This record gives sequence, structure tokens and C-alpha cells, in this order.
Amino acid sequence: MDSIGILGAGAMGSGIAQVAAAAGHDVVVCDNLTIALSKAGKNIQATLKMLVERGKIADAEAYSLFSRIKFTDHMSEFRNCSLVIEAIQEDIEQKQIAFKSMEAIVEETAIIASNTSSLSISAMGAHLRHPERILGVHFFNPAPMMRLVEIIPALQTKPEIVERGKELISSWGKTTVLAKDTPGFIVNRVARPYYGEALRILDEGIANIATIDWAMRDLAGFRMGPFELMDFIGNDINYAVTEVVFQNFYFDPRYKPSFTQKRLVDAHFFGRKTSRGFYDYREGAFWPEPVKDTTLGAEIANRIIAMLINEASDALYWRIASRDDIDLAMTRGVNYPKGLLAWADEIGISVIVEKLDSLYVEYLEDRYRCSPLLRKMQRQGLTFYEK
Ligand SMILES: NC(=O)c1ccc[n+]([C@@H]2O[C@H](COP(=O)([O-])OP(=O)(O)OC[C@H]3O[C@@H](n4cnc5c(N)ncnc54)[C@H](O)[C@@H]3O)[C@@H](O)[C@H]2O)c1
Repeated sequence: MDSIGILGAGAMGSGIAQVAAAAGHDVVVCDNLTIALSKAGKNIQATLKMLVERGKIADAEAYSLFSRIKFTDHMSEFRNCSLVIEAIQEDIEQKQIAFKSMEAIVEETAIIASNTSSLSISAMGAHLRHPERILGVHFFNPAPMMRLVEIIPALQTKPEIVERGKELISSWGKTTVLAKDTPGFIVNRVARPYYGEALRILDEGIANIATIDWAMRDLAGFRMGPFELMDFIGNDINYAVTEVVFQNFYFDPRYKPSFTQKRLVDAHFFGRKTSRGFYDYREGAFWPEPVKDTTLGAEIANRIIAMLINEASDALYWRIASRDDIDLAMTRGVNYPKGLLAWADEIGISVIVEKLDSLYVEYLEDRYRCSPLLRKMQRQGLTFYEK
């Protein structure tokens, strides 16, 4: 079986190492900080112990899985790896340096991959001698739990490399989707309105955080409301992703970040991890009550869902991914209750177009422009899926 190399033993690197070892591979995890390596080892062991206690895996299986992972601070240990996945911090210069060093070690046939969530894979390939073997493999956090992996070929990537990478990661029990090398790939782009439109509704004083969360959870069927989800992800991380997507889309107003969230970040109100975010998680703190008005709730849910569908339709229109992969990405990657394009058919393309147009007429902002694909489908009476 292929040996897999992972560079960076942080949250993502250690999770991906566990996934690859669970699939039977020998895994080499390399980090330049020995403390990060020992922490990663302890975290994986703690996860395996929990899985054994819950009866998910046998003791012997946990033992052999862990024994397949080698922790090292020498990148030269990657020499026999047929796939190396870089999972160091999100810094293009650091990543480019790391790629050059990895390429000098691995064989010419090895795939060199990055787990970046926002950087250009083509820009990483530009620094390789053989850029045709660069690939984006975007796992979600926590990697052992989340089923989705976005596969992103760079401009330079050879089709065989994409196929090999996709096949290998699918054999680890993951659902893979193919995405174009564009900001946010599929999930981090299509999900933006879930946060952005909720923040806008809050900022306009239409409803408070508890009411918006209630509408999206209890009426629309999402697992978490936008504000509890932003607090869970961390406002620092969520805000940074929005900012990167906004900048990389040449300041398209559709992705404009919110001052409200920026101020929370400024104050270090990151969410659950700092005990304060949109909600206050300190002992005995006051929590706002939702206004359970179903007319207001439906208005909130319809507005956010229309904006999400618009984003998913635009991703299809601009060929970022296929219809099925866009729907799979949102249901498997972020647990949406339905694929957004299937949801559009269910609601009715005309209803979505009219909702977007009414927002556009109200605000006269480019943010609310309807995707050309939706408008064309409405005109021709088409649906995303056959009826
Ligand atoms: N955390 C998430 O939710 C998440 C989700 C998907 C993708 N990502 C992406 O995955 C990557 C890693 O994220 P993370 O959250 O695991 O980061 P992290 O900060 O937890 O871990 C990064 C690790 O890389 C090590 N490192 C840094 N430079 C190195 C080098 N030159 N050589 C060897 N080791 C080095 C650090 O010591 C650290 O242990 C980033 O590109 C991030 O954008 C993160």
C-alpha cells in the first residue's frame, strides 16, 4: 500500500493522518515543532481510545492504526511517499518554500497536495519543477468525522494526477467533489450568504440573533443557526474566510464582510472558545429569546435560502463544479438539510428569482443581483433536476 506523508501536525494534519492510517496506509507526519508532534500523537491516541470505549473499533485495531503513523521532524522521511499533503499554516510563501523542499525529496511520480482552504493551488504549483503533479485536497475539520473532500486541480495539473488523487481519497471512505481553483472552492464560497445575509438582517434590525437562529434551525431545518455556527467555528476564522473570499473576488459586494462581526473579532469575542461571541457563554449570562413569529421567521429563512441558492446557481453557471457536486458538497461538507439546487427546484425557480429581484429593487445593490442562470431557467421553464 502507498505510504502517505503529511506536512504539519496541527488540527488538520493530525486528523488527515488518522484517516489515512485507518485506511491501512503507513503515514509519516512531519512538523518542525516537536511539541506539535507529541500533541498530535496524544490527540490521535485520545480519539482512538474514545472510539474503542464506544465500541466503534477493537483495541487491536486502534493499536495497529496508531503504530502505522510515524512522527518526525525530518522531511527526508517522505522519500517513499506516493502522496504528500501539506497542512501547515495558511501562508502562501511558507507553503511555496515547503513545496520546493518536499519536491526535492519525493519521487517524480509522487502527488504533491495542499489542504489549503483559500489559497490558489496554481500559485503553489508555480514553484515546483514538475507542477503537473500539484493537487488541492481540501478536508474539513475534524477530518476523521467530516465526509467531504474537495479535490482541486491547478491549471498545471495532469488529468491522471486528478484521477489518482480522487481514487485514493475516495478509497479512504470520503466523498470527493471536483472544484475549480477559485476562491473558496465550493463550500467556502456557496456558504457565505448563510453568515453574510444573517448578519445583514441583524444589522438592519429586522430580527435579533436568537430569532434568526430559530428561523434557520427550526423552520428551515439547518443543524445550527448562523450565529451559533459562527460562534462554534470561531468568529476570527469565519471573518478571515469571508475577508479572503471578498478580496479574492475583487471586492464583489456579495461577499462583503460585516462590521458587526469585525468588532467581535477586534474585542476577541471569538465565540465558544473565548466564552463570548454573538452569545455569552459565561456562567449565568443572559441569552436573548427568539421572537417565534412564523411570518417573520419565514421571511428570514426565505431571504437567506434565496441568497444561498443564488450563490450555488452562480457556482454552476461559472462552472466551478457540477450540479451534483455542488449539492453533495453542501449536504456532506456542511450538513445542509438539502442540496441547494434540488431545493431550488422544490421551491420553484420563479419564486427564487422573484425573491432576489424584490431584494434588488428594495436595495439597488449589486449584492442582490440574480444569477444569469436562474433568470434563463425561469424564462425557459427549466429545473436543475428532471422532474
Ligand atoms: N482548521 C480548519 O478548520 C481547517 C479546515 C480546512 C483546511 N484548513 C487548512 O489546513 C491547513 C492547516 O490548518 P490547521 O488548522 O491544521 O493549522 P495548525 O496551525 O493547527 O497547524 C499547522 C502546523 O504546521 C506546522 N508547521 C508550520 N510550518 C511548518 C513547516 N515549514 N514544516 C513543518 N511543519 C510546519 C506548525 O508547527 C503546526 O503544527 C491550513 O492551510 C488551513 O487553511 C484548516
